[in-house]
Amino acid sequence: MEGAIDNNIPGIEAECGGVCSCATCHVYVDPAWVEATGTAEHIEQDMLECAMDIQETSRLSCQIKVSDELDGLIVRLPELQI
Ligand code: FES
Repeated sequence: MEGAIDNNIPGIEAECGGVCSCATCHVYVDPAWVEATGTAEHIEQDMLECAMDIQETSRLSCQIKVSDELDGLIVRLPELQI
C-alpha cells in the first residue's frame, strides 16, 4: 500500500492510512505470490468482508509485509474499491 501511494498508483485509496480499518487498499495477489505474501490475520479477514468482489487471493495491501523476497510481487486491483 505504501509503495502504491508513494508512486501515485491509482486504485489504492488507503483511506485509513494503513491501520486495517477501511479496505480501500484491496488487491488480488497473483497466485504465484500467495505463499510469499503470507496469510491474512483475523482482523484483515474481517475487514476484507467489507471489500467488493473479494476472491481467494484477496488481501489488504497495507497488511502485506514487504521484504526482499517480495521483489517483483504482482498484484491486481479490483474494478472498484468499497
Ligand atoms: S489502508 Fe485501510 S485497510 Fe489498508
